[in-house]
Amino acid sequence: MNKYFAERVKPLKASAIREMFKLMADPEIISLAGGSPSPELFPSEELSKIAAKILMTNPNAALQYGTTDGYAPLKEIVADMVRKLGSLKETDSIIITTGGQQGIDLASKVFVNDGETVIVEAPSFVGTLNGLRAYQAKLVGVPLDDDGMNMEKLEQALESNKNVKLIYTIPTFQNPSGITMSLEKRKKLLDLARKYDVIVIEDNPYGYLRFSGEDVPTIKSLDTEGRVVYVGSFSKILSPGMRIGFTVADSKISDRIEVLKQVNDVHTPLLTQMMAVEYIKKYDMDEHIERCRKLYREKCEFMLSCMDKYFPKTVTYTRPQGGLFILCTTPEGTNTNELLLESLKYKVAFVPGNSFSTDIEKPSNLFRLNYSTMPNDKIEKGIKSLGQLLKEKLGN
Ligand SMILES: Cc1ncc(COP(=O)(O)O)c(C=O)c1O
Repeated sequence: MNKYFAERVKPLKASAIREMFKLMADPEIISLAGGSPSPELFPSEELSKIAAKILMTNPNAALQYGTTDGYAPLKEIVADMVRKLGSLKETDSIIITTGGQQGIDLASKVFVNDGETVIVEAPSFVGTLNGLRAYQAKLVGVPLDDDGMNMEKLEQALESNKNVKLIYTIPTFQNPSGITMSLEKRKKLLDLARKYDVIVIEDNPYGYLRFSGEDVPTIKSLDTEGRVVYVGSFSKILSPGMRIGFTVADSKISDRIEVLKQVNDVHTPLLTQMMAVEYIKKYDMDEHIERCRKLYREKCEFMLSCMDKYFPKTVTYTRPQGGLFILCTTPEGTNTNELLLESLKYKVAFVPGNSFSTDIEKPSNLFRLNYSTMPNDKIEKGIKSLGQLLKEKLGN
């Protein structure tokens, strides 16, 4: 069968994270591998009433075709949100997308030709890496410091690679590291993008989930040239199943995104767009986001306190100020894929770092933990077992 496949799908492998979902079916496994928001934060009752009301009172609008760029009242709400961040310029327009994932995919498709180079954080979000592989991009990873991409390495990558088309970054509570890029580095990244004349995709699905520290301006808000495509999402602040995201970009770019979206899925389902609008109009979204932040602050602090207690000193980890993830670094030479197989015997799952790498074949000494979905007793049990294994394998 392989011979029939297009070149673009040959480098694609099933994501380890998706594979992990199969393992999670074992009820005994404590999965610290997922990346989903906590279901206890879904406003299910409110949304079910809203859905029923829409279908009773306005079925024709909800069930009919809609416009590709999105449901106008939702676009207005998104415009207000991004305007507050300084991320909406006069020449910009918004496209509602089917999750942020589609926004990244369409923006990549607009810009990347076969064989062109895309610079990403190392490690980075697997959904984007796979999308870019499908466009036959050459992926170049730039390592992360505690305050975001290493700017010297970024400049080297821009200097030494041919045909660099874009930089993809998740500057706030990055997936998988939880790291946030400093303001200084955001400015530097834009300077470099200008100097080497490349586009920037700023992916910000976690920005509202800050539970400590101060907000940092978006890269988009600092951009004066229309060089940055901003991608946002309602997945982590409302519901991922509703599949609502958006892009904000100069209208000339948005027009291209819109055409590609039209051939992709025509438009994002109207029912969920209308539900989001009604929810946001009727309830206090700021209050809801505050609930999300409070829960994740507690869960993150709890997981970190367990890690401080049970993990050996040989393993270091990030201490995020928001988002859903902690990234762990084991000593050089450790293969966290092998570690995962051992860890599954202890009934604990995490995501090994090679899944987030530009080269998934290369063993990685990193692994990602998620604190959003497991109850605290399971977090403690899981971290304790994992700590035991790490001490056994890597020493104290
Ligand atoms: C960094 C990043 N970008 C984008 C997405 C896509 O999210 P969605 O399509 O649900 O908006 C995710 C999902 O986990 C993510 O971690």
